[in-house]
Parts: sequence; C-alpha cells; structure tokens
Amino acid sequence: MEKGKFIVIEGIDGSGVTTEAVKLKEHIATKLNLPVHLTKEPTDGPVGGLIRTILAKRVGAPCHNGKFESIDPRCLALLFAADRLDHLEVDIRPKLEGGVVVICDRYILSSLAYQSLNVDRRWLEQINAKGITPDLTVYLQVPPLVAERRRNQARWHVELYEETPKLERVSQNYLEAIADLRKRGQRVEVVDGNRPMREVHRDIMALVKPLLTTKAGSARKRRQPPVDAPRLDIAFAGENEPGAKEVPV
Ligand code: TYD
Repeated sequence: MEKGKFIVIEGIDGSGVTTEAVKLKEHIATKLNLPVHLTKEPTDGPVGGLIRTILAKRVGAPCHNGKFESIDPRCLALLFAADRLDHLEVDIRPKLEGGVVVICDRYILSSLAYQSLNVDRRWLEQINAKGITPDLTVYLQVPPLVAERRRNQARWHVELYEETPKLERVSQNYLEAIADLRKRGQRVEVVDGNRPMREVHRDIMALVKPLLTTKAGSARKRRQPPVDAPRLDIAFAGENEPGAKEVPV
C-alpha cells in the first residue's frame, strides 16, 4: 500500500498556521476527495497537556534567585520531543501507513525555531532524531509585528513565546533552520503569509496538489465511495512509492 503524504505547516504565533492547516484539510477532503487527518503539536496527549500548562505560565516554582521560573528550557525541549514521539507512534505513523494524508500543525521545525532561543540547535536535532521526515513543510512567513496585531485581535492572554522581540528571534531561527534542513535534502517551502487568506491558501495548494495527485492518488480518488456513503479513514492500495522516510533532521 502506498503511504500517505506527511505535510507540516509552520510559522510564528499569529502567522495563520492553524487557519491554513484547517483550510488545507478541507480542500484535500472535499475537493481532492482523499482521506486526510489534521493533527497538531503540542498534542492533546499526556505530555502535550503538561506543555500547554507550561506555555500558559500556569506551572512553575520559585528558583534560587527568588524569581518564578516555569521550567528549565532544556526540559521543555525534551517534553516537546517526548510529546512528538508519542504523537508519531500513536497517531501519525499508523495513519501514514494506512495511506492517509497527514497534516501536522507544527512539528520538529517549531522546536528548532523556538527552543533554540535558549538551547543548542544541534542538541535539539539529536533529541528529535527519531522523527519522520515530512514530505513537505510549508513555512508561513509573516513579519512579527503583523503577527502580533493578529494575535491581539484573537486572544486575551499572552503565552510563553508570544512576545514580539522573542518572535523576531524565532523568525530568524526559522530561516536558519530551514536553510540547514534544505541542505540536507528536506523539502521546506516558504510562503508569504502576509496576504489575504485566499491567496495564501492558493499558494499552499499549488505546492500540495502535485504531491497528492500522483498516478496512485488518482486511482485512489476514482475508488472513493459516493459522498453520502460513510467514509472510512483508510486508504487503498497504491503504487509502491516511498513514503515518509525515517531520516534524522
Ligand atoms: P500554538 O501552535 O499557537 O497553539 P495554540 O493556538 O493552541 O496556542 O501554540 C503552541 C506554542 O508552542 C507556540 O508558541 C509554539 C510553541 N512550540 C514550541 O515552542 N516548540 C515546539 O516544538 C512546538 C510544537 C510548539
């Protein structure tokens, strides 16, 4: 059976990652008629839940210097990596093996961009080395000030990384990590996210469509059940094309 494609959407907070991931999923399901699964990191699993309480600054302890600190940055990086490994094993890998297209809202690149604010990037790569390499990563590039304006319209509280000076550095880290990943043969595309949603979506589809409409993809499309029949979240046997590879980033 042909494996499903693994697509990751990335960007700083307020760049539109979640919105675009949802639109992408809808397009693949309704227009391309392919089995598709949308998921995100941090997850809703046990480790993801802990991460969310840390990001919301709801847990922490007074440190030796009297300051209230949430957690050592290296421990947070390990939690993201642990959440990811769990996510891969219980959700992403089985879906891909079943031929389902998986869209992930944030993945290893987020760790390389955000945790490298405080932690060495090479070590971050090591702790994430068991990750599956995405078939395509789309990075939505949005100026941090524009992202801040968008966040302010949508939120009432500020999470751990949601400060513009931090996100300026995160943006820079994204570009450095992307350059590195590309050198190693990973496919990472940068899309200008500072445009109307329709244009951003159109550009993402232009990248994703050729990936999904292979010969096997078309065969699978022909064999889809009628739209009103119950749809199983499984795929059909396809070409023997290599799917997601296990390659360290
Ligand atoms: P976000 O994706 O915006 O989710 P929500 O809309 O539910 O708040 O927030 C997740 C935050 O976690 C975001 O600031 C990026 C950060 N993050 C990391 O620092 N490292 C990671 O590996 C991942 C996946 C996310």
